[in-house]
Amino acid sequence: MTDELLRWRDEFPALDRSVYMVSHSLGAMPRRAYDHLKEYADLWVNKGINAWEDWLPEVDRAAERVGKIINAPKGSMVMATNVSQIQALVASCFDYTAPRNKVVFTALNFPTVSYVWHEERRRGAEVVVVGAGDGVHAPMEELLAAIDERTLLVPISHVLFRSSAIKDVAAVVARCKAVGAMVMLDCYQSTGTVPVDVQALDVDFACGGSVKWLCGGPGAAYLYVRKDRIGQLRPRTTGWFGHEKPFAFTMPEQKFAPNIWRFMAGTPAVAALYQARAGAEIVGQIGVDAIRRKSLRQTATIIERCDAAGWTVNTPRADAERGGSVCFDFASSDRVAKALNATGFLCDWRPNSGIRMSPHFYTTDEEVGRFLAEVERLRTSA
Ligand SMILES: Cc1ncc(COP(=O)(O)O)c(C=O)c1O
Repeated sequence: MTDELLRWRDEFPALDRSVYMVSHSLGAMPRRAYDHLKEYADLWVNKGINAWEDWLPEVDRAAERVGKIINAPKGSMVMATNVSQIQALVASCFDYTAPRNKVVFTALNFPTVSYVWHEERRRGAEVVVVGAGDGVHAPMEELLAAIDERTLLVPISHVLFRSSAIKDVAAVVARCKAVGAMVMLDCYQSTGTVPVDVQALDVDFACGGSVKWLCGGPGAAYLYVRKDRIGQLRPRTTGWFGHEKPFAFTMPEQKFAPNIWRFMAGTPAVAALYQARAGAEIVGQIGVDAIRRKSLRQTATIIERCDAAGWTVNTPRADAERGGSVCFDFASSDRVAKALNATGFLCDWRPNSGIRMSPHFYTTDEEVGRFLAEVERLRTSA
């Protein structure tokens, strides 16, 4: 069988020097990132202050590149630095007037999301964290039952970082709509490997970043806000780039931009947007449907091999419930993960999940086999 997607391998020099199974954490660097960072630096050195003529439009261009991947309409996406900052930015829009002051989520969210919302208790938020269920699947019944007429917002992960389980977003959105609550989707672990359509899902907010499946390195996170919500929200976390006329330098109060730029705060970190360009372009060009087909095939093979080896699989087996990674565990898996990384078999390890292994569009079937053989070799060597 020919694998069309392997023609992209040449674009990723890291693949020549490692077996790259860690795209859920840090996607491989595209060769073109060198060129784009040079373009950024050349603008600076050649144009000085006038570099902003090129740099500033890059903010919207970066937003559109990711917007295309998650089907966000033009003008509904803005760039920031990381998801923690974005969660805090969205939180800063609310005043938690009782009785609608509840924020509800599960213990399987990425911890940073939980940390941000817990701090909102100081401003009147009532934070309800439902359990971790079996630690693999989101405890949907408990979550849906906790969402009521007093719920303001439900921040959820599309794909859980701990198990790669796909959350039933439609069920959460339906429940939230029934009680008048909002949904914030963290699609960091899905964008680029599992199809995401923020309009079809009808979430109020979505966010994620460049570091993982989008192969963009750190610093280019994105926030989607449903168009009808944009004008209703006034973030307290703000700054001059969120002003309707930043270069009028008016005092003393914020006058919010009427569009998505009201969610900007201060000067954008433009270099990260140049760095993230190639990865988002490549994923957009390939298309997530093709990436997903290949991912399902390779992750199914990994699960079969783990079963044959007698390892515990901490990722759902059903295609429709499984994201782009497979988490598997056995005694001393942490030791094995360390040894793998020391010899260029890149992966990571998380408590209660074990080794997280993630093929991406650039992974060969031979690499999948070689990685698993190395796991077994290290597991059985003292
Ligand atoms: C689901 C999810 N959300 C958020 C993050 C990271 O957040 P931040 O961009 O603030 O580092 C991760 C990273 O591991 C993640 O897996």
